[in-house]
Amino acid sequence: MKHSLIIVFGIGSLVSNFAFANAADLAKAKNCMACHSIDHKVVGPAFKDVAAKHTGEKEAENKLAQKVMKGGGGVWGGMAMPPNTNVTEAEAHTLVKWVLSLK
Ligand code: HEC
Repeated sequence: MKHSLIIVFGIGSLVSNFAFANAADLAKAKNCMACHSIDHKVVGPAFKDVAAKHTGEKEAENKLAQKVMKGGGGVWGGMAMPPNTNVTEAEAHTLVKWVLSLK
């Protein structure tokens, strides 16, 4: 009994760590990190600043997922983000959920 409980908790924390590493790896694989960093501005805004700006905003996940796929500008000043045509809608949602969770 004791042992099976330990195994259940072990698997639980493995799964949640894996989910996190996955989105971060996806961001690297999709080249997001060429223009973004988690905590400082590169070409685009720091992902932590994006999370802070859009916290509590209605439809933030949908709007940002569309923007990741189609590109766009005018929010952060300076350059616009080009379309990321290598990202599917599902991947865009995964990436945006991850970005919005960074605070
Ligand atoms: C060529 C550089 C470049 C690449 C590659 C890039 N971005 Fe961006 N990103 C930008 C710039 C520049 C902005 C600021 C746009 C603006 O001011 O509205 C931005 C803005 C954003 C925003 C905030 C949009 C808003 O309205 O607040 C998110 C979220 C984002 N990028 C996610 C991603 C993700 C996810 C990827 C990878 C699939 C990615 N970006 C790839 C340059 C890039």
